[in-house]
Amino acid sequence: MSEATIPIQVEDLRAKASRELESVPDLDGLEAWRITYTGRRGQLTQLLRGLGALPSEERREAGAVANAVRAALEESLAEREDQLKRAAMEASLSADAIDVTMPGWPVPKGGLHITTRIVREICSAFASMGFTTVEGPEVEWDTYNFEKLNIPKGHPARDMWATLWIDHIDEDGEHPMLLRTHTSPMQARIMEATEPPVRVVVPGRCYRYEATDPTHEWHFYQIEGLAVDRGITLADLKGTLYEFARRIFGSERKVRFRCDYFPFVEPGVDMSIDCFLCDGVGCRVCQDTGWIEIMGAGMVHPQVLENVGYDPNIYTGFAFGMGPERVAMLKYGIEDIRLFYANDLRFLRQFA
Ligand code: PHE
Repeated sequence: MSEATIPIQVEDLRAKASRELESVPDLDGLEAWRITYTGRRGQLTQLLRGLGALPSEERREAGAVANAVRAALEESLAEREDQLKRAAMEASLSADAIDVTMPGWPVPKGGLHITTRIVREICSAFASMGFTTVEGPEVEWDTYNFEKLNIPKGHPARDMWATLWIDHIDEDGEHPMLLRTHTSPMQARIMEATEPPVRVVVPGRCYRYEATDPTHEWHFYQIEGLAVDRGITLADLKGTLYEFARRIFGSERKVRFRCDYFPFVEPGVDMSIDCFLCDGVGCRVCQDTGWIEIMGAGMVHPQVLENVGYDPNIYTGFAFGMGPERVAMLKYGIEDIRLFYANDLRFLRQFA
């Protein structure tokens, strides 16, 4: 390197460095540029090392040029740093900016439980036939759950209801309090509280001391129905329940009544609908019978009427009891009753 050319070299370096500085893309690039040109081992510093060998006149001149260039480059560096920082800030601001045209987060919306829905549907089908909806206690006295319903203590029919007893013992050492095993105790409560005519449906929770499986839960709902008046016959029972089945399961449904036993009705029946899946031909859902049982029913036993102070020579009535979960299972093809109360949103959302 010829000593006389140092100022020219410095100028060249300045031109090259300035050009490069323009195209430094970011702060990391800027630091690399500084190390290359103005840093302690940078190219400008290297050039200045040659100054010592120059005659003093020239050295002063070249030194002045070199110092001016260093100052200019350092100033450009600071400017470029400023520029890049501002650009980075603007970029991050616009990245975080709120786009007011974007749709908002959906607000989680609750829905009615499938049991609530089917209970309301069934009750409103009966409401249009003149039945009022009433509710009653889930903790009951033995008297209402059994005795007034013609099921005295020690009667073998008590075995039909595996009972959860409340830990409350009376003077005789008996457990008179329980979780109702069915909604039928409300038959007695309603008749005691009102004069005929009576037309009510009673939806509510029931409890049984039972192992669970696809068709049994230890707690479940029932809908009780009761109609008492002068001159009510089995034909009224059949007509009312037939109409109910058509409203819930469609106008094509057929119904079948067969004899069954419940201590508080005489005669007692169970009601089936023809299988909606196979139209009565026989399939897995109806266990090849073509029929699906949906409730117990019957004419209110004269003893029950007497127990609540109604004169069985004047009044007659019919009663029925059905499981709304069972109705929903048939209507929607649900295969396991335990799904209703397992709180799995994937199941529940299908009906919400
Ligand atoms: N309570 C009965 C049960 O739980 C059902 C029923 C109600 C039957 C009314 C007849 C009349 O099994």
